[in-house]
Amino acid sequence: PRRIILDCDPGHDDAVAIMLALASPAIELLGITTVGGNQTVQKITRNAQSVLEMCGRQDVPVHRGSARPLLRDVHVAGDIHGESGLDGVELPAPTVPVADARAVQYIADTVMAAEPGEITLVATGPLTNLALAARLEPEIIERVREVVIMGGGYHEGNVSPVAEFNIWADPEAAAIVVDAGWELTMVGLDLTHQALATADVEEQVRAIGTDLAEFFLGLMGFFRRTYQEVQGFDDPPVHDPCTIAYLIDPSVVRTRRAPLHVETSGDLTRGMTVADLRPGADLEGCRTQVATELDRDAFWGMVVEAIRVLG
Ligand code: BDR
Ligand code: CA
Repeated sequence: PRRIILDCDPGHDDAVAIMLALASPAIELLGITTVGGNQTVQKITRNAQSVLEMCGRQDVPVHRGSARPLLRDVHVAGDIHGESGLDGVELPAPTVPVADARAVQYIADTVMAAEPGEITLVATGPLTNLALAARLEPEIIERVREVVIMGGGYHEGNVSPVAEFNIWADPEAAAIVVDAGWELTMVGLDLTHQALATADVEEQVRAIGTDLAEFFLGLMGFFRRTYQEVQGFDDPPVHDPCTIAYLIDPSVVRTRRAPLHVETSGDLTRGMTVADLRPGADLEGCRTQVATELDRDAFWGMVVEAIRVLG
């Protein structure tokens, strides 16, 4: 299986990413690292633990990470994810303490202790921890197998016309991560806005009939309401598990190679991800790609199966 560290800020869709990673035999989830984003890092960290409790997987260590972006002020996404970061469900209290090592140290140590090319880093929140890990231990850049991020978009934004929340929240960190030189796949809004939790998906989950199925439905109910009110969507896009789906089966997420950079200084374009999709773009040695097209049925099939398998 793919050995991954999931760096996240749960977050309704992050919670689904955790479930998918836990359930799939193609993935070995070594640890979860947390980062301030959708809510404060304190709340997010507890949420990660609660999701593991819900899934009966308290054995997966949770390492607390960065409390704030490198340079910018903290802006949580309470309008989308609520006061707790996971509003809409009862969260079970964690029964296992947070791990001793902090996220950045854990990421660096785990990658350095593993064989070269063994560890994949998946990030579904702001990129503060990954940027700091790459600065703390630059050798990890050559050692990781690949980095898969949910963030950005080459044609779409949500915080602004051109910027997505995870990149906008810490654009300097995102620039460090995107420019680092490791193999990187950006699963941006262009892809994740195809991952809509429609009524038929909810019906399939309702039929499972377990506590975890109810938990998912509670999350999606809240997420649907805020996405309707704040973003004008009918159905909520469940962004973060698209990264995991891509790792489980790359044929579910079509990608395209493109030089990629992050705007940190524009007046109107803070946090914009700029992908060079021109036919003549120089792809020689290009190590970045962007996700373009989702096999929607296969994706939701994976998520529904994950909820079933986790019981
Ligand atoms: C991203 O921002 C967060 O609100 C979600 O969890 C997702 O990672 C979407 O822009
Ligand atoms: Ca997230």
